[in-house]
Amino acid sequence: NADPRVEELLAKMSLEEKIGQMTQINITKIVTDSLAAAYDSATTLVIDTNKVIHYVTKYHVGSFLNGRAMPPDVWFRFTNQLQRVNMRYSKNKIPIIYGVDHVHGSSYLSNGTIFPHNINIACSFDTTFAYEEGWITATETADLYHRWIFAPVFDLGKNKFWGRYYETFGEDPYLISKMGAAYVRGLQGNTEIAPYKAAACAKHFLGYSDPKSGWDRSPAEIPDQALREFYLPPFKAAVEAGVKTVMINSGEINGIPVHANYDILTKLLRNELGFDGIAVTDWMDIIALQKMHYVAENEKEATFLAINAGVDMAMVPLNTDFCDHLLALVKEGRISEERINQSVRRILKVKFDIGLFDQPYPRNDRFNKIGSKEHKVKALNAAKESLVLMKNDQDVLPIKAGKKTILVVGETADKKIPLCGGWTYRFMAKSEYWFPKDMKTIYGALKDEFAGSKVIFAKENEIKKLASSADIIIAAAGEENAYAETDGSINDLELSESQISLVKTAIATGKPVVLVLTEGRPRIISKIYDQCKAVLFAGLPGVEGAQAIAEVISGKTNPSGKFSFTYPYKQGHIIPYNHKQSEYSILRPVEGELKRFAICEFGQGLSYTKFSYTKINLSDTVISTSGKITAKVTVSNVGKVAGKESVLWFLADEYGSITRPVKELKYFEKKELQPGQSLEFTFVIESGKHLWFPDKEGKKILESGYFTLIVGDQKARFRLK
Ligand code: IFM
Repeated sequence: NADPRVEELLAKMSLEEKIGQMTQINITKIVTDSLAAAYDSATTLVIDTNKVIHYVTKYHVGSFLNGRAMPPDVWFRFTNQLQRVNMRYSKNKIPIIYGVDHVHGSSYLSNGTIFPHNINIACSFDTTFAYEEGWITATETADLYHRWIFAPVFDLGKNKFWGRYYETFGEDPYLISKMGAAYVRGLQGNTEIAPYKAAACAKHFLGYSDPKSGWDRSPAEIPDQALREFYLPPFKAAVEAGVKTVMINSGEINGIPVHANYDILTKLLRNELGFDGIAVTDWMDIIALQKMHYVAENEKEATFLAINAGVDMAMVPLNTDFCDHLLALVKEGRISEERINQSVRRILKVKFDIGLFDQPYPRNDRFNKIGSKEHKVKALNAAKESLVLMKNDQDVLPIKAGKKTILVVGETADKKIPLCGGWTYRFMAKSEYWFPKDMKTIYGALKDEFAGSKVIFAKENEIKKLASSADIIIAAAGEENAYAETDGSINDLELSESQISLVKTAIATGKPVVLVLTEGRPRIISKIYDQCKAVLFAGLPGVEGAQAIAEVISGKTNPSGKFSFTYPYKQGHIIPYNHKQSEYSILRPVEGELKRFAICEFGQGLSYTKFSYTKINLSDTVISTSGKITAKVTVSNVGKVAGKESVLWFLADEYGSITRPVKELKYFEKKELQPGQSLEFTFVIESGKHLWFPDKEGKKILESGYFTLIVGDQKARFRLK
């Protein structure tokens, strides 16, 4: 459907201007030389007006991106000046759209609210948190003209060696779809930021998360059928949620770099999913077609491939030869102007839709919203519900307040970085300097939480001595460094030897050890897991994370997180919960080590209370190909304290012409139950929605036969006729 505003403007634009709209330049190109030279340690942002004029007049550049974590007034001055210069020199007064990676809250604002990373948010099994994260991020950043947020990641959490695992919502397509869509709705639907609107970005289309080797941006081999069944549905949900932009996978799948793949970028994304927003490349990825993938001899051919495949905007094409190449390609008749118009229409449409033409400038009268108490409480609540209690022998947790002596040990116990991970404040936040002064570490939060007790921090060589007077040891371990993108890929998932040895020292004291894990992916802990009395997975819970951990340890918060992924036992046999039947076939022993492929499966997580599942019931045991049946189950809190329970409904298709996962999540709902309270939960099973699977062309296959419905420990069987 033609948008008259877009058509009117497009008709006035020269080819050069159109190509400029398809270009996105890095901030380092428009700051002063001295700042650009010391960009990694930047403490302010100073624009060089002449450089902006150069890009706006020579290349008609329509978008800029990136930055460093800065106070709001620094950002305000920067984007205000940028836009004012642009509006003065832009021939057709087309506002710039500015993009920033606020991927877990306002991470490019030095006082912004930081949420847990997606891997945690998904463990909450409550989409409210994803929605609120989107909403709050927009509230804190839109005024500063960060109107294009490069989030969320819709990739399937697959390869755990891959450095971006924590940016995913875990390993289940349905969970990712729900969480990601909620974030998009929160961010893009935010009315509090009126007269502005923000655009989200579904990343990274398609198949980015599963490089064979685990190295970021290295080749993936994903069969078309699997691509459609597991990797595509989240992006479909993103499009259905109205996501305005999509970022493309930097890697190659099945021998074709996605940036040059017409089948994926045009046939699948546009024609099949019906996406009509902007498809932006990832960082320098057109150049990468020449220099990383070697499918184009030079940058001009790379540009030809990418634009023909379906790219709308080139992120960071350097200086920008991209514009010259594209211009030449159109003039030579190798790319039609109509193809350019197609992309420019999409870009202008997003710019109109988010109100850039009506309100092109940032504002500075709502800074009090940024990092406000109200926002931080939301981030804290998200953190609390994202923690997963993996084991709790003899109810060693919670530690009741009193005159206890609590020994705190571990590499990550008194540090801020391990709680937040990458993409936090100054990009990867390699220095504690960037974190808020009042941010608590685990040790600090425990001291405050157990104010009436003795909370002592012990270094490794002090553990033995100090443990003699301690009642319990809290050992914090996990990933010590923040990492993002390529620098996060590893070849060993085992927790570092020094940390294993430290935890073993704590275990050897004979005192009960509670292990608290802060990590962006499951690090192998099989050498210490059984000997720890309790284990709490904290993931990357963000700036409020230590408080959340302390509250779970004290019992002020009853843990309710369940794993959004499978926590492997060893690194040799890593499979997701929705694996195929033949992972455990008659060929393999079912007892012993081999059976224990996971310490905790997707969907597992303990509470301080107990929930019992009873009375599963189906409205019918036969369902037609277009029918529905209603399933009900009663969940009761049979313990002594109130608690929240995520009720996860799985389906197992017993036989299939394409091998079926042993079970698949189809629906979830989380509710609080008081002790003694029972609630009935309902799930409506629809054949056309829940019982089919795709073939390699995406055709829906609906096969008659038996299905098992699984919820808690309850099961019911029905037949599709
Ligand atoms: O948004 C990111 C992307 O996820 C990875 N490469 C850089 C982009 C922009 O910073």
